[in-house]
Amino acid sequence: MFSGDSVCTVEAHAKINLTLEVLGRRADGYHDLRSILVPVALADSIRVERKGTSIDVHVRAAPGIDLGAIGPVEQNLAWRAARLLQERYGAPVGLRIDILKRIPIGGGLGGGSADAAGVLRAVCRLAQLRVPESTMLALAAELGSDVPALLHGGAVCMEGRGDRVTPVLDAGADAAPFWLVLANPGISVSTSHAYQLCRLSGGLTANPEAFKNTRSSVRRGDVHGAAAALFNGLEQKVFEAYPETASLAARLKSAGSLGVLLSGSGASVFALVSGKAHGEDVRRLLGAGVWSVVTQTLPDGVMAAHGPLEP
Ligand code: C5P
Repeated sequence: MFSGDSVCTVEAHAKINLTLEVLGRRADGYHDLRSILVPVALADSIRVERKGTSIDVHVRAAPGIDLGAIGPVEQNLAWRAARLLQERYGAPVGLRIDILKRIPIGGGLGGGSADAAGVLRAVCRLAQLRVPESTMLALAAELGSDVPALLHGGAVCMEGRGDRVTPVLDAGADAAPFWLVLANPGISVSTSHAYQLCRLSGGLTANPEAFKNTRSSVRRGDVHGAAAALFNGLEQKVFEAYPETASLAARLKSAGSLGVLLSGSGASVFALVSGKAHGEDVRRLLGAGVWSVVTQTLPDGVMAAHGPLEP
């Protein structure tokens, strides 16, 4: 028998990559990366309840979100996260997982990875599993390259395959968030295809200058510094192969934003802006027909699951 709450909730935040350097090919087929990743306020809401005799995942879409790209349940990262905790730690066999999707699927915003991280946190709390944080990060890495960073929360530098994460801010420090507009052209880009395009072109994309400047800009809360240093080594190839992403980026630029970048492997694009009102202006100029949202970064956030009575 397990004690503790019977319901847990968690907000699974989307992310952007302010820098993404592809440093080398690995023997396991993945690439060694270095990326400054920061969560944003936009989040899927997850509710996990101890119920039934299997893992049931129910996904609902917020307005404007297309659930068409969701695959079979066994490929769902949230389902796999719960399964992993059952197999390794004897988490409850009966779990009902409800996910309200606000993050576009397959959009380079880490939605599926955030959901997996959220389920790891929620199930551990629900079943009062005492899993050391280093083990949680290792479990997260088994699920996907972005999951450790999102499980950690806050602005992080991710390295290796994505399995090594270090916070950008010093312990106890905070930093002003950046406002941004997220936009998605209504297509999805497969992450492995984006890396394959990069590999075929032979181009590894170290950019230590961008890394250094971005890290110090995040620490200072300097959005202009961050906008000047934005860098994504996958961007050029994805822009060439998926022209919708390039034209969306061009529209965001001409709408007067401070800096525009492909988010992760795309297809979403983000534009840094000087504040909320500036973001609303840029968003208005983008016009209808494109999913977009004004949001802000969470440089010093943490991912935490809550009991049923907490907000
Ligand atoms: O780990 P994840 O499932 O998110 O990765 C999706 C795909 O992206 C991988 O199959 C791989 O092709 C590519 N990838 C990579 N190097 C990384 C992360 C992802 O090549 N560090």
